[in-house]
Amino acid sequence: LNVMMGAARKAARSLVRDYGELEHLQVSMKGPADFVSSADIRAEKTLRAELKKARPGFGFLLEEGGEIAGDDKSHRWIVDPIDGTTNFLHGIPNFCISIGLERDGELYAGVVYQPLGDEMFHAEKGAGAFLNERRLRVSARRKMEESVFTTGIPFHGRPGHEPFLKELAAVMGQVAGVRRFGSAALDLAYVAAGRCDGYWESGIKPWDIAAGVVLVREAGGYVTDYDGGGRMLETGDLVAANDHLHQPLLKLLKSARG
Ligand code: IPD
Repeated sequence: LNVMMGAARKAARSLVRDYGELEHLQVSMKGPADFVSSADIRAEKTLRAELKKARPGFGFLLEEGGEIAGDDKSHRWIVDPIDGTTNFLHGIPNFCISIGLERDGELYAGVVYQPLGDEMFHAEKGAGAFLNERRLRVSARRKMEESVFTTGIPFHGRPGHEPFLKELAAVMGQVAGVRRFGSAALDLAYVAAGRCDGYWESGIKPWDIAAGVVLVREAGGYVTDYDGGGRMLETGDLVAANDHLHQPLLKLLKSARG
């Protein structure tokens, strides 16, 4: 965790600088409404160099750089240099760095760092989840009608518009509120911190969720795919919530999808 937090802090320096000078960034498209900027590339370069320096053998799955095999086949970093790229590029301050560590195919540790608020969310399997020094626990809410959920809304070029509208219709009438903040890693960190009671999204990538899954689990919450299993990284479908609300949320989403 120290290695991960150190790397995140170092990469955050260029991110914050770039955020202050958005007009100078070079931005290109990876696909429809899928942007990459010189800020993503710079931050990812720092993260990769720092993590490699500390653990030379570990492999990588990088949002921008893809899969890089390491000599140590049992460890892999899963890295998103900016989760919430669209927010970042629009000057909306909800974005973060996300670093997950997989050990023997299992998500083992996670760091989600929101540099503007200096919020360092971190968790290691069996050791609990923390925001800076403070221990985290998911919310205790039991009633859907008192609960707030976050989600991701598909956009231009992303499939799943119709199923999402059905899910939203099923959930919104039952709950106190649905939010769309624009960073999946922070959405999961907020569930871990008890700020939100749950989060769901489909079509999500491993680097958006790897760290956040560990945070939610270590804060006492549940994270599954839409079948109630653990294949979130493979399916790209994720449902996270506190221990009381996970089943009701999953049931609503499943019935909405038919
Ligand atoms: C995106 C964010 C967003 C989610 C999208 C992701 P990116 O990641 O996490 O909240 O709804 O599905 O693609 O592109 O900013 O790294």
